[in-house]
Amino acid sequence: MQDTLNAILAKAPAELATLKNRAEFEATKARYVGPHGEFTALMKQLGTVPKDERPAMGKLINESKGRLQVQLDAALQRIANAEIAAQVGPAIDPTLPSPDAGPGTFHPLTLVREEMCRILRKTGFTVVEGPEVETEYYCFDALNTPADHPARDAKDTFYFPDAARFGNVTKKVDGEKYLLRTHTSSVQIRTMLKGQPPIRIVSPGRVYRRDTTDATHSANFHQLECLYVDKNVTVRDLKALLDYIFASLLGKDTKTRFRPHYFGYTEPSFEVDLSAKHLLKVNKDWIEIGGCGMVDPSVFEAVGYDPEVWSGYAFGMGLERLAMLVYGIDDIRYFYQNDVRFLKQFA
Ligand code: DAH
Repeated sequence: MQDTLNAILAKAPAELATLKNRAEFEATKARYVGPHGEFTALMKQLGTVPKDERPAMGKLINESKGRLQVQLDAALQRIANAEIAAQVGPAIDPTLPSPDAGPGTFHPLTLVREEMCRILRKTGFTVVEGPEVETEYYCFDALNTPADHPARDAKDTFYFPDAARFGNVTKKVDGEKYLLRTHTSSVQIRTMLKGQPPIRIVSPGRVYRRDTTDATHSANFHQLECLYVDKNVTVRDLKALLDYIFASLLGKDTKTRFRPHYFGYTEPSFEVDLSAKHLLKVNKDWIEIGGCGMVDPSVFEAVGYDPEVWSGYAFGMGLERLAMLVYGIDDIRYFYQNDVRFLKQFA
């Protein structure tokens, strides 16, 4: 009996080491300790052993069974660990460089934004940013946009509930509402309140409008705003700068044209159209690219500048529009879908 037990314990480890899954394990376990297993058979033999030897023999079998159980537990644990490892996949080292070629590509909107900022920096403009959560004062009131102006309607602008609090954006006027800025023009006011002229800033950023998304509209899009304040600034300076930046971006044969328009914060105001060879890609002669004008005296008064001394121009344009033109993209939704087949084209 002792020899039989030793033989079983001696062969078990090698056999258990070959088991690959739970089914094999259960079958092997049954051969040892199942109802028809070797140990069970030994227990049955106990009845044939002389009575006085039985207790010692029983103890021996139980001890051996206990040692076998330890081996079985270890084998099952090894199989369970292998199952988890198979699910998790091979171990990775997150500090290693990506196996893909290069670190990825820039988004086309980033490319156009950076190129415009680069061109404007060369011309003496400084890049500044403003908050996307704004108050009515910075987005509308200080920009001479009265309370009943359609742009301020809750159908067009995202307002926050009165109870909303934004610690980093302080309200300028008692009772005014927080909103998601509808244009980057709010940065004009923030910049002028912070410093004195001359001012020459460019401010790119996200803006929000309650628009239904289609091929040319999105409730969230991007603008680029410029403000120049100095003495004796004229419409000619404005036109010259726009001609220069668009020629730099799109090529020498690029033309701009002004169409009279109304914005509360500029007088006179214009809409700017562009004509460039890139337009062939989107099948048009002229495309509207933004708004501009000479800073309205009421805006200077709102920020405490003397309109008799200071003059300036401002313009704002949509970055998506510009990127669509540069790359010949015909649907604004491509920008936001993060489809690598789209993004990889701008490597
Ligand atoms: N804020 C205008 C818009 O979102 C664009 C614009 C027009 C900006 C005239 C300006 C400006 O700075 O002077 O449509």
